[in-house]
Amino acid sequence: MADFLLPVNPQSAVPLYEQIITGLEDAILAGQYDDGPLPSTRRLAEALGVSRNTVLTAYDRLMEQGLIVTVPRRGLYVSSDAVVRMRAARRTARSPMQPIDWAARLPEPPPTPVHRDPAWARAPFPFVVGQPDPSMFPIGAWERAQREALRQDGLSRVIGDAGQADDPELVRQLCEHVLPARGISAHPDQVMITLGSTHALHLLASVLVRPGSVVLVEDPGYPDARTIMQMAGADVVPGRVDEDGLVVEDLPADLHGAQLVYVTPSHQYPTGATMSASRREELLRRAGAADAVVIEDDYDPEMTFRGMPAVAVRALDDEDRVVYLGSFSKLLAPGLRLGYVVASPALVDAMRARSRYVLRHPPGPMQRALAQMVASRDLARHVRRVRAHYQGLYEEMVRAVERHVRWGPQPVPRGGLARWITGPPGLDAGELARELRRQGVLLDPGAPYWATRPAPRHHLRLGYQVMPLDRIDEGVRRVAAAVEDQVRPRLVPPPTRKLDVPLRGRSS
Ligand SMILES: Cc1ncc(COP(=O)(O)O)c(C=O)c1O
Repeated sequence: MADFLLPVNPQSAVPLYEQIITGLEDAILAGQYDDGPLPSTRRLAEALGVSRNTVLTAYDRLMEQGLIVTVPRRGLYVSSDAVVRMRAARRTARSPMQPIDWAARLPEPPPTPVHRDPAWARAPFPFVVGQPDPSMFPIGAWERAQREALRQDGLSRVIGDAGQADDPELVRQLCEHVLPARGISAHPDQVMITLGSTHALHLLASVLVRPGSVVLVEDPGYPDARTIMQMAGADVVPGRVDEDGLVVEDLPADLHGAQLVYVTPSHQYPTGATMSASRREELLRRAGAADAVVIEDDYDPEMTFRGMPAVAVRALDDEDRVVYLGSFSKLLAPGLRLGYVVASPALVDAMRARSRYVLRHPPGPMQRALAQMVASRDLARHVRRVRAHYQGLYEEMVRAVERHVRWGPQPVPRGGLARWITGPPGLDAGELARELRRQGVLLDPGAPYWATRPAPRHHLRLGYQVMPLDRIDEGVRRVAAAVEDQVRPRLVPPPTRKLDVPLRGRSS
């Protein structure tokens, strides 16, 4: 009976079955039952002087943990795999880990991404960028589309392993209903579905960039595009930007030796400038002469509020030189992770071949649900609704900036969901952001968008996608006042002068 000497104490506050579990675990880990069955519930109950139900409960729990298993007609045995796992867990709990030197094996961390302040949802003035307004998400339509996606004839295709192929239905819907609005006529073999533009950029870098390749990126520009190219070994060279986007005329004929040129022509990221028609043509001409590939990141063309969206550069390209990136992150939600590439079939094939060994293909049900949203016209209805909403925010933002920003003209972008503000010289927007955060005003300092070193510190970016309409004016007023407070002591001899005198006068 030595077997059954479990330390069970009926007076303890710990339930009897738990005491039995602990006792059996210890005995199992000590190897007591390595070669034979555990006692039957009846014998153990008798030996311990407890009810059989109590022992049954303890055994049930041990079976749920996988520590013991029933072998038909032979009884209860210990699972040796579970014992190994449990011994390892107990060792870890007893002695703190002595980790190996991971830092020596890992690459340098990439630069810190543009800060996404998690406190935005509670802030009264969240001028943040890149966050969707949950109330704008078309929950009903998306639910319908998801249900439909699983109900259709092609279910086995939707839930099956598609290898490296995309959902042909989504590709068809994009070619027939989405791309024509951008002036792009595409054949299905020119389209690849991606997990957002970030995935597309990564794939492009992995097939087109070698160590030492040169990639030209707008400056200020999209930090993630720069980082992705650098991670693949590229040397990133900056291209200056003005109110008409990348200053193409500035570039030398060899484009600084760039094999790739990354641009955001619809709304330059982060300034919001729309690339002029003449620059688009000039970009294609120069890229042709230098034999460079153009990556056109068209992340939010629908958010054009003055005039019509400019036609995509890809639509003007007759050399298959432009790689067009589309994304549903701004239009629907970034959490869906859905985007696409339109490019030469040869490039699409090469990216697909890579993607097969990374994630095979984006989730089938998500692709089909999006196809369903397009086919049912729910997406078109959604576009009309969000555009009307964001247009209201955009106009209010234009008025507020006009009213409160008094230190020099701020170009008015044709659209986008954020306003780039150039502060007076001497402004430290990082310090400004920290100061305003205490008042519940969140904004995005401009420095991380620059590749130029030292990065200019006097720009800021006010995203208004999640700003309540009726707080925009007051929010911009607070930002402008804080800017003036910060720079005034540096610019003005203190007394007697009016506040706005030293600042360069009102915009237009
Ligand atoms: C310049 C730019 N391109 C593309 C995207 C979209 O990226 P994704 O489709 O990976 O969400 C964003 C979103 O923040 C962006 O700012």
